[in-house]
Amino acid sequence: MTGLWFRSKVRSSVGSATTAIRVGVAIALGSLAAVTAFAQQPQLTGNLQRGRILSYTCLGCHGIQGYRNAYPNYAVPRLRGQSEQYIIAALHEYKSGLRDYPTMRLQAMSLSGQDIADVAAYFAGRPLVATGTATRPVPKAAQLCVSCHGPEGIGVAPMYPNLAGQHASYLARAIQEYHNKDRQNPIMDSMAASLTPAEITTIVDYFSSLRPGLRTEPRPFFSWTDHQQPLQR
Ligand code: HEC
Ligand code: HEC
Repeated sequence: MTGLWFRSKVRSSVGSATTAIRVGVAIALGSLAAVTAFAQQPQLTGNLQRGRILSYTCLGCHGIQGYRNAYPNYAVPRLRGQSEQYIIAALHEYKSGLRDYPTMRLQAMSLSGQDIADVAAYFAGRPLVATGTATRPVPKAAQLCVSCHGPEGIGVAPMYPNLAGQHASYLARAIQEYHNKDRQNPIMDSMAASLTPAEITTIVDYFSSLRPGLRTEPRPFFSWTDHQQPLQR
């Protein structure tokens, strides 16, 4: 899907010679490079039941309401309702080192491509769907952001992460990381580069307050035998 979208975008832009369009293509290609790690792999269908078993370790952090990372101190991101495609991309980014967070890198390294597809399908649950009725006016500082992340904080395409209801401290941390180029993404690094601390506060407050939003993973089982229970998405 992603690959096709990018290909058609690039192809339709090639005919024209204006600089603006070339820049647009460069951005599209840059982000294409960031997603190739998983886009080049064959489309894998996630298996919910396997994903549930694999999620057991993950839930030790992602399944605890308000669980915080010790240093630096911020809340572990919510994954329930996140775009499946984005979760897959994120795990491949940890695996390849594009995202440099040691614990998550170790977790991702232990997963095969199929494991990642399975765990992403399970964690995403039913990804959030935009209704077209924003509950709050979009603040000026977030006006550009909503062209991809949506006025309801729900990505306009599956490769754009949902931000609605995400922990404020995690959003602030992510934006700061792009700002400092510690987390590398051609689109987001340029988006975050010129944001002032006041704008970041406004943006974080806006997206984290939107509902319906992302949620902490429920912990459907506490012992191994609970795996036998019927599984619902
Ligand atoms: C020791 C705690 C811990 C465990 C265990 C853990 N995670 Fe994480 N996870 C984190 C933290 C902290 C972050 C945010 C890291 C950062 O700032 O990049 C994160 C980030 C993520 C992200 C990126 C979310 C986003 O919005 O970009 C995904 C996806 C993810 N974890 C999935 C998993 C999966 C799947 C597992 C199990 C295989 C797992 N995690 C195990 C702590 C943990
Ligand atoms: C052209 C589309 C686009 C625009 C505009 C955009 N983003 Fe993003 N954003 C993305 C993509 C793609 C990613 C995933 C990048 C990655 O994998 O690191 C992302 C990731 C993020 C994340 C990390 C989410 C997570 O779960 O870790 C945050 C936070 C974010 N964007 C905030 C913003 C803010 C704030 C703005 C406006 C200043 C903005 N974005 C504008 C495309 C966009």
